[in-house]
Amino acid sequence: MLAQSGGILIAGGVLSTNDAFAQTHPKDLIFRTTEPRNAEPELGKLVQSWLTPTKHFYVRSHAPNPVLNPDSFRLRIEGMVRKPASLSLGDLGKFGKKSTTATLTCAGNRRAEYNNEGKVGGVQWEAGAIGNATWGGVSLAEVLKQAEIAPETKHVWFEGLDEIPKSGKVIPFGGSIPIQKAMIADGPGAPLLASSMNGETLTPDHGYPLRSLVPGYIGARSVKWLGKIVVSDRPSPNHYVATAYKIVKKTEPLDWIESAPIYRFPVNAAICTPKRNAKVSSGEIELSGYALPTGRPGSKIKKVEVSSNGSKWVEAKLTGEDTEFCWQLWKATIGVYADTKQLWVRAFDTSGGFMPARVPWNAKGYLQNSWYRMPIQIG
Ligand code: MTE
Repeated sequence: MLAQSGGILIAGGVLSTNDAFAQTHPKDLIFRTTEPRNAEPELGKLVQSWLTPTKHFYVRSHAPNPVLNPDSFRLRIEGMVRKPASLSLGDLGKFGKKSTTATLTCAGNRRAEYNNEGKVGGVQWEAGAIGNATWGGVSLAEVLKQAEIAPETKHVWFEGLDEIPKSGKVIPFGGSIPIQKAMIADGPGAPLLASSMNGETLTPDHGYPLRSLVPGYIGARSVKWLGKIVVSDRPSPNHYVATAYKIVKKTEPLDWIESAPIYRFPVNAAICTPKRNAKVSSGEIELSGYALPTGRPGSKIKKVEVSSNGSKWVEAKLTGEDTEFCWQLWKATIGVYADTKQLWVRAFDTSGGFMPARVPWNAKGYLQNSWYRMPIQIG
């Protein structure tokens, strides 16, 4: 791939790195790290609309954005296929256009809460590593069908064009999904090879010019700057499938081997307004937030409940759209008193998913979906 120093190529020309930085709205996100770029929005901004504007959409990258030329860009299809291919953006454009609305969330969303029990490394996400967008592109299943996959195929690997320094080597980011998920061709759960987000060309931060987009799965399976797909009879050996993005107590080889890669995201929720530690007067206050159903086909949010200090649970009103693979938004009114220290939320989904009171600590701080407890001050 053409790596052009000092600038980022976009469809209409070349932007300087600074312009590209400005284009992706650093003012609108809280940067947890700038090299690589890892940022989340203030929670209040996140729930202003059911569809998250790109400027308020979290960014999670393990290395600097690769600089890619759309004219020489190729997506390679390899492995257990009868017809390997090297597809330009023009070739991909010949497949039928598809779009889907789906929530993307990082497996590390709410990681910072684990530190109360034991320190976890990694990007210290609060509850903003989540967003809901409309993605446009072509069907992964159709592209794979054209490549004529072998009957013994079990997994589809994705490989990014980024260069991540890891243990003295440079590796790409990789993802992997089961073939049964990859071959879903229609409906909201169908994975896409996405080139647009919210009706506009993907920005460099979100994977320009092409990414995989896997509804219902943790964000790590939606590989940005996608350069290669490998069809295989086993999951990808890439570090981000074989080692990272697993629930382990210790970061040791046996723990990694004994633990399976995470695919679906579990039900989750957070309070987004008022702010954490906000000072409010006693009496009735309004809360708002999001709730995400489990990424299982057909699963939707059934009920959201809020509570002050864990006393009586009060049902919230759902205010967003009721769509599988997408979050819901909610609002609630609750009484707070001089002794109120925390506000809590928990969600239930239609596939039996519920948020537990506590999630066992894990070394990488993934899948924190215990009852969301937010400190508040009564003044
Ligand atoms: N793809 C590549 N090539 N490199 C990355 O670092 N990060 C993954 C995924 N795809 C990543 C990637 C992770 S962990 C998440 S949560 C999502 O991208 C975040 O997507 P976003 O930055 O568009 O929000």
